[in-house]
Amino acid sequence: MNEIKLNITIKHYQLDELSADDRELVERAVQATYNAYAEYSHFYVGAAVRLADGSIVIGANQENAAFPSGLCAERTALFAAQANHPDQSVHTLAIAARNDNGLLDDPVSPCGACRQVILGVEDRYKQPIRILLYGKKGVYSVMSAKDLLPLSFVDSSMK
Ligand code: THU
Repeated sequence: MNEIKLNITIKHYQLDELSADDRELVERAVQATYNAYAEYSHFYVGAAVRLADGSIVIGANQENAAFPSGLCAERTALFAAQANHPDQSVHTLAIAARNDNGLLDDPVSPCGACRQVILGVEDRYKQPIRILLYGKKGVYSVMSAKDLLPLSFVDSSMK
């Protein structure tokens, strides 16, 4: 029997320790929480993606009375980015969330389906996506969706 040990690094920053670009991206994710349509969960998630050319595309969760028809903030942002700027790879994704009591204290973490989509975008552009998870207590940073989704399923898994 062999053991495989995985090594994942999560950097924990205070907001003022981030670069100006990253802080801007996190702030855009926070603002994007106000674009959420979360009538059912009252959980408002914002996402902001920084593209290779430096531009920013935002997304926010959109819910529907038929629950599965809604979509998470991360995927609205990533799909909008690819639909509007298909030639631009995604460099960084920032996520923030609040509930009816305000912004979350702890960094918010993407759901499994969003992790899979982030990974798919990395695979498409052959470019790791840095992920910034905002919470009032600080910002977690990981270098790739692979750090959030080990043993993942990608295109090459089928070959
Ligand atoms: N949600 C997101 O937007 N992103 C996540 O990664 C987790 C969950 C949304 C989906 C739904 O509208 C609400 O949060 C509650 O699950």
